[in-house]
Parts: sequence; structure tokens; C-alpha cells
Amino acid sequence: MNSVDRLFGEISGGRVLDIAAGQGGSAGMMAEKLADYEEIVGVDVSEENIAKAKANNKNERTRFVAMDASDLEFPENCFDTVSVFNSLHHLEKPDRVLSEMLRVLKPEGHLIIGEVFQDQATDYPNSQRHIHHWWAAVDRVNGVSHRETMTRQEVLDMVGRLPLTGVKVADHEEEPPVSRDEHMLRSLHEYYRRCLQRLEGKPAAEALKERGLELLTIIDRDGVRWEKEVVVVAKKSA
Ligand SMILES: C[S@@+](CC[C@H](N)C(=O)[O-])C[C@H]1O[C@@H](n2cnc3c(N)ncnc32)[C@H](O)[C@@H]1O
Repeated sequence: MNSVDRLFGEISGGRVLDIAAGQGGSAGMMAEKLADYEEIVGVDVSEENIAKAKANNKNERTRFVAMDASDLEFPENCFDTVSVFNSLHHLEKPDRVLSEMLRVLKPEGHLIIGEVFQDQATDYPNSQRHIHHWWAAVDRVNGVSHRETMTRQEVLDMVGRLPLTGVKVADHEEEPPVSRDEHMLRSLHEYYRRCLQRLEGKPAAEALKERGLELLTIIDRDGVRWEKEVVVVAKKSA
């Protein structure tokens, strides 16, 4: 078992809140990897993603609600575990969201943060980072909050400013896999086509379109090399 999975396996989740749950991947992952849990509530500001998360997750102890994480509609100290995965760089106000996460977390409850970072050991041309940063640029020209990913240290510094105890940090030890899965490649092409529509009439559209095509050509040839995330688990100070 790798050290990230070992860390999840040590947590008895209780009532879990997953912030920026997207299409439900992180909630599903926690249902599988936490030692146990009572229920998982996933929230996301996108109604479209919440609908997809509901369709993707058939687990009866998991539910999804559309909500802005910078203004959580929960009372204070009501969750045993609060998590956010691969989303800090998506948030317009990450510090505000982290403070909301701590508000609804019980004292001594678990805060879990997983975030992909940009300073990976090796910078492969087919690394996910390049296409990820391209998606982020397309989002930004469309007014959607999406920054480039942080460095590993920037993630740790952001967490280090919070009132936490017992901070544990885990990294995936293995070299990230290269995926040549046909379904995944088709989805990347489909997403690229949707991005082209979103770029119509936008500033710098031509340069962005060209860069996107260049990245897809590399990925078609070499597959996508996924990137590692860093995982931090800590307790809210009593
Ligand atoms: C990369 S996706 C989440 C992935 C998901 N956590 C997972 O690991 O499967 C980032 C998500 O952040 C959401 N998001 C951005 N700003 C938000 C906010 N203020 N409140 C809640 N969700 C937000 C987006 O709608 C998007 O679904």
C-alpha cells in the first residue's frame, strides 16, 4: 500500500464534507479508501457537475448538493472530516474557502487536502500539466476561475497558515503512469473541440487554439503522463 492510501486508511471519517466535489471522483475515492465513514456530502458551485456527480455515484451514503464553498450553508462544527481535492487552484477565494472549511469542521476533526502541483520531478512534454494549464487558460478567457497549479511548497505554505495540529504530508511514491487509454484520448479530443467553441471571438483565441492542437498531437503520439498530487491530513486545533 502506498503512503497516501495508508494515510486515508488511518482516518475514521464520520460525517465527511467534500468541497468542490466536481463530478464525484474524490467522494468516490474517499468512500473506497477511508477506514470508515457515516456519510459523504459533496458540494460544488457547478449545477452541471453536481448532476454528473449524482449520476456517477450510486453509493447510498454519498450525496451531492450545489453550493458555493466560499459561503457554506452549514452550521459551525458539524462535520468530522472536511476535504478538498485538486481544486485549490480553481477557487477564486481559496483562503476564504479554507476558512469556511475550518468553520464547519469540528475541533480535532480531520482536514484533508490533496492538490496536484506543478514542480514535478521531471517535466515531460506529454505531462498532464501542459494540457491542464491550457484548459485553465481557456477557462480564464471565459471568465471562469482557474489558475495554473501551485508548486508543492506553495500548497504546503497555504496549509501551514491554518490553525492545525498533527500535520501529516504524503506523496505518491510511484512514477506517474502514462495513459494511452482510447476512451480517455477520445474524451481529451472531445473536450478540445468544446474548448475551441468556447474560444470563438475571445482574445488570443488563435494562439490558444494552436497551442492546444500542438499539445494534443504530442499526447496522441506519447500518451498522457499523469502528475502527482501532494496530500496533507491534519486536525483542526481544539
Ligand atoms: C478539478 S474539479 C474538482 C475535482 C474533484 N474534487 C475530484 O477530485 O474528483 C474543480 C471543481 O471546483 C469547483 N469550484 C470552483 N469554485 C468553486 C466554489 N467557489 N465553490 C464550490 N466549488 C467550486 C468547480 O466547479 C469544479 O467542479
